[in-house]
Amino acid sequence: MREWIVAGNWKMHNNVAESIALAKAIREGLTAIKNGEVVIAPTFTALFSVGEIIKGSRISLAAQDMHYEDKGAFTGEISPAMLKDVGCIYVIIGHSERRKYFHEQDNDVNLKVKKALMIGLKPIVCVGETDEERVKGVTQSVVGRQLKEGLSGVEKIDNVVIAYEPVWAIGTGKVATPEQAQEVHFFIRGILKNLYGGSTADDIRVLYGGSVTKDNIGDLIAMKDIDGALVGGASLKVDSFLGIIKVISSKQ
Ligand code: PGA
Repeated sequence: MREWIVAGNWKMHNNVAESIALAKAIREGLTAIKNGEVVIAPTFTALFSVGEIIKGSRISLAAQDMHYEDKGAFTGEISPAMLKDVGCIYVIIGHSERRKYFHEQDNDVNLKVKKALMIGLKPIVCVGETDEERVKGVTQSVVGRQLKEGLSGVEKIDNVVIAYEPVWAIGTGKVATPEQAQEVHFFIRGILKNLYGGSTADDIRVLYGGSVTKDNIGDLIAMKDIDGALVGGASLKVDSFLGIIKVISSKQ
């Protein structure tokens, strides 16, 4: 039985005081939830303070990105060890905004995934097709390539979480239908089965991301291969984020 995860990606929102307030409110709101895993990914500048707020709670801290080198002359970058130092458990890797605006390639994703695992961070590896790719009918070849190249050389994936985030659904309000999402999640699990064997693949959490709200998550989470959500916009308000968590937790 896979334990659900709801991860909030705060992107480039919230200063330190706002991040602390949101983290506190989430922590307080979660006291009634007894199952599953909740992850929050504030900006780098708020990681340490938010880490202090959620210490001892069921919330795990995540970073939104990292560099794959340990240290060195990489102005503006943050190393995996620095993330561990401030209490990160997870790190989002290969988000479509990183791929689109910062030209991250599958190879960068792969280097980051390998380094995260090596140092003991759990990567949330994002894959997903653009609108144009879906219309062209190449969703599976794009997602398959991102997954295989992103995981190339990764021998053990127990600590990896996959997030399927169709790019056309991110921040657009245009959520994938449960059937559309399930089709790709099933495809992803099939690739994981080929690469790692059935029982390992059956234990890997595959999250859906893209315009998730408390109103649409119920039908998505009812799908067999959807194990939770990576949430952007709706993770910035305590009520909408907790609303999503409550729907998922009540269905498990
Ligand atoms: P969204 O973002 O929920 O605002 O669509 C999802 C994401 O980018 O992870």
